[in-house]
Amino acid sequence: MLRPRVIAVDGPAGSGKSTVGAAVAAVLDYLFFDTGVMYRAVTWAALERGIAPSDEAAIGALANRLVIDVLPPVSPGQGANRVIADGQDVSEAIRREDVDRNVSVVSAYAAVRTAMSARQRWLGARYGSGQAEKPGIVMVGRDIGTVIMPDAPVKIYLDASAQERAQRRYDELRRKGKDVPFEQVWADLLHRDELDSGRALSPLRVAGDAVVLDTSGLGVDDVVAAVLRVVMERAGVATDGRGDGKIPDVEVF
Ligand code: DC
Repeated sequence: MLRPRVIAVDGPAGSGKSTVGAAVAAVLDYLFFDTGVMYRAVTWAALERGIAPSDEAAIGALANRLVIDVLPPVSPGQGANRVIADGQDVSEAIRREDVDRNVSVVSAYAAVRTAMSARQRWLGARYGSGQAEKPGIVMVGRDIGTVIMPDAPVKIYLDASAQERAQRRYDELRRKGKDVPFEQVWADLLHRDELDSGRALSPLRVAGDAVVLDTSGLGVDDVVAAVLRVVMERAGVATDGRGDGKIPDVEVF
């Protein structure tokens, strides 16, 4: 029986990747790594320096020298990594609306993707080898199963209808006290979908060997349970009530 150490979770904005990924990581005691925060940190740093998001050369150079440190969430299961960039805690700042608006453009640049991918692969390989302080990693993004970790033993693609994803985003903004019209949230989401799926490099795609889970109408617990079932099946653990249902901590994938 094999313990899958790398769990790749991809999907569009608002599909629940971060919430579900962090919860799965907490159950398995794996590291939770949301790769989107790296693209957000580059976007934040560009805006802080007054670099125009359209200035590909300047943003590429910035991505190569910016030191971005991605730390685990404050408490396990919480869906947000802490992020340090330029020596500052930017965990909140990278969620700003100006970052939201520009991150899809910045993340499409070749130099940005090359710089971020190298760091992500390195981390994935380290946890995948079983030599890190945690037994594995849950990596969340758009291209993890297709480009960053194409050999990941478990690949999940989370999806949901655009309307439901927009509703989740709208509810989240309302909880934060932001009063943005629903139509605006929906239009922004469709625009980001288009940029993330339509770009030339590493566009959002379903990996051939990914398990697609449509989360429309499902609660977080249901989706987490579905992902854990996939992990257990991959580890050869019976999910039909036979056996103890525990994932054995044995060999690497
Ligand atoms: O998941 P998110 O909304 O925080 O991602 C922010 C942006 O970064 C999004 O526009 C897509 C991009 N991204 C990417 O291109 N590749 C990844 N692996 C993760 C995110």
